[in-house]
Amino acid sequence: MNVLAIETSCDETGAAVVQDGTRLLSNVVASQIELHRRYGGVVPEVASRQHILTILPVIEQALHDASLGWSEIGAVAVARGPGLVGALLVGVNAAKALAWSRGLPLIGVNHIEAHIYANWLEAGPAAEDPKFPLLCLIVSGGHTEIVVMRDHGVYERLGGTLDDAAGEAFDKAARILGLPYPGGPAIQEAARPSLGGGNIELPRAELRGTYNFSFSGLKTALLREVRATEHPDVASLAHAFQEAVVDILVRKTSAAAELTGAAQVVVAGGVAANERLRDKMRQSLGSRAQFPRISLCTDNAAMIAAAGYYALQRGKIATLDMDVDPNLDIAA
Ligand code: KG4
Ligand code: ZN
Repeated sequence: MNVLAIETSCDETGAAVVQDGTRLLSNVVASQIELHRRYGGVVPEVASRQHILTILPVIEQALHDASLGWSEIGAVAVARGPGLVGALLVGVNAAKALAWSRGLPLIGVNHIEAHIYANWLEAGPAAEDPKFPLLCLIVSGGHTEIVVMRDHGVYERLGGTLDDAAGEAFDKAARILGLPYPGGPAIQEAARPSLGGGNIELPRAELRGTYNFSFSGLKTALLREVRATEHPDVASLAHAFQEAVVDILVRKTSAAAELTGAAQVVVAGGVAANERLRDKMRQSLGSRAQFPRISLCTDNAAMIAAAGYYALQRGKIATLDMDVDPNLDIAA
């Protein structure tokens, strides 16, 4: 069963074809990063307009790369939330039109759930699918959530951020340090010379007894450090910031893994591409920790196809009056 999927929830226009929820046949991502860089972040109206321009060529490219025609596509999946409402509408309307005109089942996918499903993709013939109960840390530009997945489609939310998302914190910190957008990769590179050393320590919001996060105090502390010196040491500050974020993510996730007796732990979303986070997570959880391929951490449609395939197995077919939901809850 080949699922064609569409992703337009934020600033990447994506289309992909995935076979049986695991085998990547094509994965096209038209990134808008260059377009938004001059603003230091995503501008929703600019994102929607760009999705309209790129969506059809991106879908055509995905079919072309997979060497498939429409007759070999079994379903159309699309991210219907959470995300930017205008951006989501472009993908959802394209998916509806395609499903209707080709007579294919339409599947509405939760974007956060899809980030988790990136772990089912291309694990390789030797690797096995993630095992339940699965503890999931989803860390992206828009989201920071700790969720237990008991089975396909069965989620329980343990906690999340009270203010900035982890990726958003990286992006804001990069701005403070004069580094480019997106901030995560820029901070990772800037921190490299200080890895394993560094003499600056930034505060962590513990929020004891909860699985919640707060990153806004850390951002303020960083700003204070930068303003306190005439020539701030960007490498040390980037390192200190990254350590603080990684440390709190690893500690909370490890504690949640113990609490829930998780068989495995997966990290997903754009920040899961962070090397330091991967290293520290492996140090804490050993082989129980699993991550998607780096290229599948940030937004893409392949993960929407994987989640869509398993939703279809459960009979979750949407009707043509399906709407976008900018605040769609994973546990709903
Ligand atoms: O999942 P994603 O593409 O978009 C959302 O769904 O939000 O995540 C984008 C976020 C950005 O905030 C970016 O700074 C962050 O992921 N990111 C990273 C790294 N690569 C991307 N953060 C830390 N380290 C990285 N290597
Ligand atoms: Zn995302």
